[in-house]
Amino acid sequence: MDGNGRWAKRRLLPRVAGHKRGLDAVRDVVSACHRLGIEYLTLFAFSTENWRRPPDEVSFLMELFLRALGSEVDRLNGNNIRLHIIGSKARLSPALAERISAAEELTSGNDGLTLTIAADYGGRWDMLNAVNELIAEGATHIDEESLSQRLSMAYAPEPDLFIRTGGEQRISNFLLWQLAYSELYFTDLLWPDFDARALEQAVDSYRCRERRFGRTSEQLPASLRRE
Ligand code: IPE
Ligand code: MG
Repeated sequence: MDGNGRWAKRRLLPRVAGHKRGLDAVRDVVSACHRLGIEYLTLFAFSTENWRRPPDEVSFLMELFLRALGSEVDRLNGNNIRLHIIGSKARLSPALAERISAAEELTSGNDGLTLTIAADYGGRWDMLNAVNELIAEGATHIDEESLSQRLSMAYAPEPDLFIRTGGEQRISNFLLWQLAYSELYFTDLLWPDFDARALEQAVDSYRCRERRFGRTSEQLPASLRRE
């Protein structure tokens, strides 16, 4: 979800106003996913590198996250949405950590959309964390299966589609392991302007992609071939 700051700057507003509007876009996209029957939505809210931002902005984002959890969780729960928060959590405030656990607990029985928020998350952190856990248990050999089972999103399939808003074409330390075969989609829209229609356009682009996973086109069943 990139482009909040620029959205605000273009309107001569403080950057944090963009983050506030970004939350409206989150609501919109979550309900659009629900409508489209998408089973997993993972939002990159705050990276392990975002701690480098000015302290005021970091505090605002943490406060916004805390308040959003308070105000949105009942509605998410009512819509049968299961909420997961992934990331190190080491630097989150105790109040935020508590609210996260409560929200995960409350929605754990839901089987509609699985909504994951990545906060204090980094793909490198995730992989190293997994490896260190395996080492601590005495593992001497790590394979794809054992590593992927230890990643923080082991409960979900690998993403089919990766969307980055805001015009940059980077992964920026998101789900590094799981994105190996994801379809990448970049849009110049700034995150606060990203809405249901924009999501549908991204999904339409995805539908035109031929996913070969290393195979040739001819090896694919006709239904998966594109041309
Ligand atoms: C939101 O957009 C990303 C967050 C870390 C919350 P930015 O804050 O990166 O917006 P730009 O890139 O400055 O426009
Ligand atoms: Mg940015």
